[in-house]
Parts: sequence; C-alpha cells; structure tokens
Amino acid sequence: MYPVRFEEARVTDGELWLTGPVFTARVQARGPAWRVLVFQRPEDAEKGSFAVVENERAPLHYAEGRVSASDRPPLDLTLEPFSFAFAGLRFPGLYARPLGTWADHAGFFDPTGLLSPPPPAEGRPLGGGFALVLEEAPERRYFGLGERTGFLDKKGRRYTFWNADAFDYEPHTDPLYQSQPFLLAVDGAGAAGLVLDETWRLVFDLAKADPRLSRLETPGPTLDLYLLPGPTPAEVTENLTRLIGPPPLPPLWALGYHQCRYGYASQAELEAVAGELEAHGIPFSALWLDIDHMEGYKVFTLDRHRFPDLKRLAQRLEAKNAKLVAIVDPCVKKEPGYPVYEEGHALGAFIKSARGEEVVGEVWPKPAVWPDFTRDEVRRWWGRLHRFYLENGVAGIWNDMNEPSAFALEGLDAPERTLPPGALHGGRTHAEVHNVYGQCMSRATFEGLLALAPERRPFVLTRAGYLGIQRYAWVWTGDNKSSWVHLEMSVPMLLNMGLSGIAFAGADIGGFSEDADPELVLRWTQLGAFYPFMRNHAAKTSRRQEPYAFGEPWTGKIAEAIRFRYRLLPYVYTLAEEAARTGAPLMRPLFWHFPEDETAYSVFDQFLFGPALLVAPVTRPGQTHRSLYLPRGRWQHWWRGTLYEGPGWITVEASLEEIPLFLREGHAVPLTEPRAAKTAFFEPLYFRAFPEGQSRGEVYLDAGDGHDPGTRYEALVNVERRAFKGPRGARAFIQTKEGNVIWLD
Ligand code: GLC
Repeated sequence: MYPVRFEEARVTDGELWLTGPVFTARVQARGPAWRVLVFQRPEDAEKGSFAVVENERAPLHYAEGRVSASDRPPLDLTLEPFSFAFAGLRFPGLYARPLGTWADHAGFFDPTGLLSPPPPAEGRPLGGGFALVLEEAPERRYFGLGERTGFLDKKGRRYTFWNADAFDYEPHTDPLYQSQPFLLAVDGAGAAGLVLDETWRLVFDLAKADPRLSRLETPGPTLDLYLLPGPTPAEVTENLTRLIGPPPLPPLWALGYHQCRYGYASQAELEAVAGELEAHGIPFSALWLDIDHMEGYKVFTLDRHRFPDLKRLAQRLEAKNAKLVAIVDPCVKKEPGYPVYEEGHALGAFIKSARGEEVVGEVWPKPAVWPDFTRDEVRRWWGRLHRFYLENGVAGIWNDMNEPSAFALEGLDAPERTLPPGALHGGRTHAEVHNVYGQCMSRATFEGLLALAPERRPFVLTRAGYLGIQRYAWVWTGDNKSSWVHLEMSVPMLLNMGLSGIAFAGADIGGFSEDADPELVLRWTQLGAFYPFMRNHAAKTSRRQEPYAFGEPWTGKIAEAIRFRYRLLPYVYTLAEEAARTGAPLMRPLFWHFPEDETAYSVFDQFLFGPALLVAPVTRPGQTHRSLYLPRGRWQHWWRGTLYEGPGWITVEASLEEIPLFLREGHAVPLTEPRAAKTAFFEPLYFRAFPEGQSRGEVYLDAGDGHDPGTRYEALVNVERRAFKGPRGARAFIQTKEGNVIWLD
C-alpha cells in the first residue's frame, strides 16, 4: 500500500491542482459540493460520470492548507501524506494499491496498519485501486448506501457495491440489486454527505473491521469523491439532489395501486383479475404483464394465442383510468430470424468478449445475448423498439434482470450469475460498468418512451441501478419473501433509498416468494398505502395473494387500505411534485424533520410520510397493540381522534382495520374520493386539518400527465375562527378528539 502524497498545490482557473510523484488531484467547488478527483493517467483528468449532472463551478481559494469557496464549509488539506477534513469528517489517509490485485476484494489490507502507513509497494506499478480512510467518531451514524438489508443506521457492517440478482435475499444479504455509493454521516458536528462516484466494485467498511476507522475501497484507476454539506440531513438531501438531479414528475396513475403476479399467462386471466378487483370495489391503476406475455421469452414479442388483442384490454382498462405495464428484460434471445437479435447483431450492439465474439449465456431465453447500453447508438435503437409495446396499448415498462443477471454463460463459469469482468463494452470492461448496466438500460427505455410519446410522462420501473437512477426509473426492492421480517425490513430499506436519491420506490406487497397469509397481506397493504410505489406482486409458485384471494373478512379490509391510498392521492401527488423539484423523499425517517431529536435516529420501523403524517406499521402477526415514538409537538390519532403530546413513547391499539397513523399539529392534508381519477384536478377536494389552532396544507393540481405546468395551492385552516382559505371548490374538516367530524367552510 502506498500512501498517496503530493508535493505541490496550485490554483488554476478557479480550481486546485495537486501534483506528486505518482498521482495528480483536481479539487473543484462543484455545485454545492467539493469534488476531489485523484488519478494517475492523464486521460482520467476529464473523467465523466453516470451520476452527476451538476457542472457549475464556483471559483475556489487556497491558502495555508485551507480550500474555500462560497456557500460551503472549507476543505482542509495536507499534501504529504495526503489527508483532508470537511465538516467534521476527517480522512487521515488515501492509499493506492499496486496493479493486478483487482480480484482481491476481500479486505485487502490490515486496517490497524493504517495508523502507521506501510511502505510503498516495491517494484509494482500503482493503479490497482484506492482505499480512503475515514476516522470514526463513536457517536457518528451512517445512513444512505441505497438499497440495503438491515436497520436504519448502517454503521458496523461492510457493504459491497456490485449489482446482484439477489433472489430470495435474507436480512443480512449484501449486496442487493442497486449501487448508490452515497453516505449520509450524522454526528455532533451535524450532517454531511459523501459520494464516491466510482462504478467499479466498491467496498465500504463502516467501522466493522476496526471501530476507529471506516474505509472506502475502489479497484479502479481513479478516486472520484464528492463531499456534500448539511448541516441538517434534509439539507444534505437537497445538495445531493443538486448534484445528481431529481426524479421527473410521474404520471398520476403510477401513484395508484398496481396489481401484478409472475404467472398471469393470458389476456383472459388479466381480464378476470380486473373483473375481480372491480367486483370488490377495489380501485386500481395498472395491471402488469410479466414474462409470460412473450413468445418464447423474446423481448418485444407477444404470444398471440394467449394475448389475442392486448390493445382491446388496454382500451377497456383505459375507460377505468387504468393502464398496462409490460416487463422488458435486457437479455435478447439469440435466434436467427428474430428481428431484435438480427438488428442488434447487425448494429454490433451486443456485449463482446475480448476475442470479439458476442458473449452468450442463459436467462429466461436461451441462448441469450446482452445489448451494451453504455453506447448511445445502442440506447437509441433499444428505445425505438418500445414502439411495439406502445402500439399494443402498453403505457409503462418494467426493467428486470438488469444487474445484469445471467443464469449461465456459454463456455465460462458464471459463479456470480452475471457477465465476466473482462467482457467488453466498447473500450470499457464489464468490471468498470457492471454497476451502471441497469441504469443505462432504464435510460434507454425512458428516453425511448419520451421520444415515442412526447406528450406523456414516461413510467419505467427498474430492479438495478446506480446513483442517479431516479432520473430514469422507479425502483422496487426485488425478490423479497412473504414474511413479517420482510414487511418490517422494507421500511428502513425504502427510507435509506429515499435518502440516496430514490424518492420513488416500493417493495412487493405481500412478498414475492413463499406463501402469504391473509393477515400478512392486509398489514402489508396498509403499510404499502404509504409506499411511493404500491404494487402487490408474487412469484409463480406462491399462493395467490391478490386483495380478493382470501375472501372475507380479509378482502373488505384489504380493499379499505387500497381505497385509503386513493383518498390520500392529492397528498401523495403533492409530495411527488415536491420530490420532482427538490428530491425530498416521500417516506422520511423521523430525524429528517426532527434532526435535533436523538431518539429519532434509531427509530427504524416508523416514518413520516411527507411532513404531516407519521406511520407506525404493524409488523408482527396477531399484534393488537403497537408501541411507537412521537417526536416533539402534538399528534392526532388519525382513526380515533385522540391527541398525544410528544416527545415520547406511547402504546396504541391497532385493530385489524387500522395502521397506527398520526396527523402532525399545524398540518392539513388534502384528500379526495377513493377512485382512479383521470386527472389530478381532484374533485372533490378536502383538507383534513389538525383539530386545534392553525394548520397549513398544500396541494398540487394538474392534468396528471403531460407537461403543462400545474399549480400549487395553499390551504389555511383556523379552527378557533372556523375559517378556511384554500383552492376554489375545496372544503376543510377536522375530526374532534372524541371522533366527531366538523366541517369548516
Ligand atoms: C424476477 C423478478 C420478479 C419477476 C420474475 C419473472 O425474479 O424480480 O419480479 O416476477 O423475475 O419475470
């Protein structure tokens, strides 16, 4: 290990260049962040990014080891050995590895040795990666890291960034399908963010091997780091959004209820599902087509025997304001005469081995090849192919298996069920771009849909992604299980995804693999009413778990939870519009709104849904009561009207009909009637206000699709004066603490 050192520091064109015997570094005030890019090869000075969209640079100043620029805390540097500190985070050393140790990613040095750095590696060229050391503070907590199993605080574990088909994952499985190398660190000094913008297989050891240090490792030739100021977690989110961009505003229908199952094998079956949902008074916004819609698992085909007239089904659903979404996997069946394969082959679109041959393997189709979505012309071609689905009435696209997953490879081992690290994407190896494969596929899909139907807002769901995936797709947490542990774990998973830029995500409601029971589906649907993405989905071999599958008394209660989501839709849509401007997640950990509250940082199984609602799901079978934490201020039990005063722990009853839900003092929440509406001009429109004092709410109204600007309205309620001021036609009500409803007009 070689401690990186520099000998000279020079400010040129408003940025700082550090030069040393082996490495060079560029320090930039980029958007709200500091960027530190360390490299060895001259061509890496202009390294690009799949994540960062911010290109605005503020001029910086450098004097006596301190780099400063407007609107951010300074960066303190020493050159020899290179170390730096920012906003309470101290990085005592950066170490480079010799070349040729790429495969050795299982903890490549003794962490305790770092306090007295080992001598430079003799006789071997450097360039085999970096390890950045971060000094620990006992009280520091870590959040973010994208999609991870476990609780809310991520400290004390080691995380790998390597998108994996993590079928049937368990509470300790790592990695999963996504890679967001972003950390939110919170300690006595406040909150700060860190992005290691490297697409290689990274490892973050967060005070696991040595409680005194964390270390961030990349096997690539550069170290591309961004440091984001807070000082609150919410400000870190805002700054992260400036760096990597917000998600686009989704169409209204995407925020409704989605019904899916791996195994819906015919148009008649989908029609029956729609009929059952309707018969039980269950509103829905989309039915999903999994892989059985294809002919022989060939993407962009339809089995015409089983799906004779998909367009007619789409029209029937359209009349109810519901849509069809179809799965599109990246693996293309290698079959002479199949136009998608022939076209891709002629274009040279498929990933090749170092020998220049297409890499062939197996997924659902076999044999299969994989398009190289890192290339512009391949993305454009793939995007155009979606005309097929649009012409058949499909409105949204579901990207799966895009880690990419490979069940087997022809002539090669596939121990990691993905492509070989040496496969070529143009001039880059798969090892370098593996983690952005899914992101580039979803980008192709998103841009394709936008080009084909520019008047509509694209809807794409993806399993794999990298930092910035929110610009192209929503995310779901892959193949979970029908178990209470998975229901519970979905909360911290989605909260940390929200902090990592992914405002729109959800877990399969009811669980994907194994068998659900009715109580699990009920409790999960009650929780799922607050997932940004609300979809019930299950594996082919598992018991049916549609809302009507279990009969009464379950169906009625599950239906009520879905209807509640539709009642809440004006609020959900208003939060979605905020996310599209600021990146603010819809599901927020308690500390996001209450950063001064120490207890809020460890509460993993509750969350705030926007600023106004606190949700505490029931996470165990047979549970009739729930203990929960209320931060400071007053809170009203949504269903019973009771008022509580925080901060403190309370226990409330949670009968099968109710998920513990609280309205925060000073807030008013827009609501409507429970139906799948065509536009987001919600009629009727009500505000439910806190029953005492003054409350404020907001609602965003627009056409629900397309690009015409909408309007954000304010609603003000004064209970003492019985006064309400809000958008035209809207009304307001309160529920008294005894449970009576009073209208204020
Ligand atoms: C994968 C997906 C799952 C899907 C199945 C069949 O397991 O994660 O959601 O249903 O493939 O396409």
